[in-house]
Amino acid sequence: MTMAPANESLPRLRALAEEAATHAYAPYSEFCVGAALLWDDGTTVTGCNVENISYGLTSCAERNAVFRRISEHGPEAKIVAIAVTNLAGEMCAPCGACRQVLHEFAASDAVITYRMPGGWATRPFADLLPDAFVMQRKN
Ligand code: THU
Repeated sequence: MTMAPANESLPRLRALAEEAATHAYAPYSEFCVGAALLWDDGTTVTGCNVENISYGLTSCAERNAVFRRISEHGPEAKIVAIAVTNLAGEMCAPCGACRQVLHEFAASDAVITYRMPGGWATRPFADLLPDAFVMQRKN
């Protein structure tokens, strides 16, 4: 597994995620999350969480970043690196729903870095969703 090229971009990706978190709309949880994705065409996209007074309608930072990218550029590129953080400096690994959505567009050797108290955890994204749900495409 080669994580080297993506790893070189992690400091920049973390900074982009930090900046995205400042845009969060989180008046209910007050937990402001930012995500930044590096794609295999070299571009990046960010997202933040957007909450709703009907709490279940809240949309996570990671999914907003994915949906923004697909909306603007289509579904061809693959994610090679992911950064997720929050303004409170707390642990911030993606929720289960976001792991599945990220998996849909992630390269098999994609790497993820997420905020931990006092630092960052960095690991292969595949480690976060073993035996991910997949289906054989019929076309
Ligand atoms: N949140 C994210 O943005 N990403 C995650 O992976 C987990 C949770 C947001 C949703 C909600 O606005 C706040 O964090 C507290 O759950």
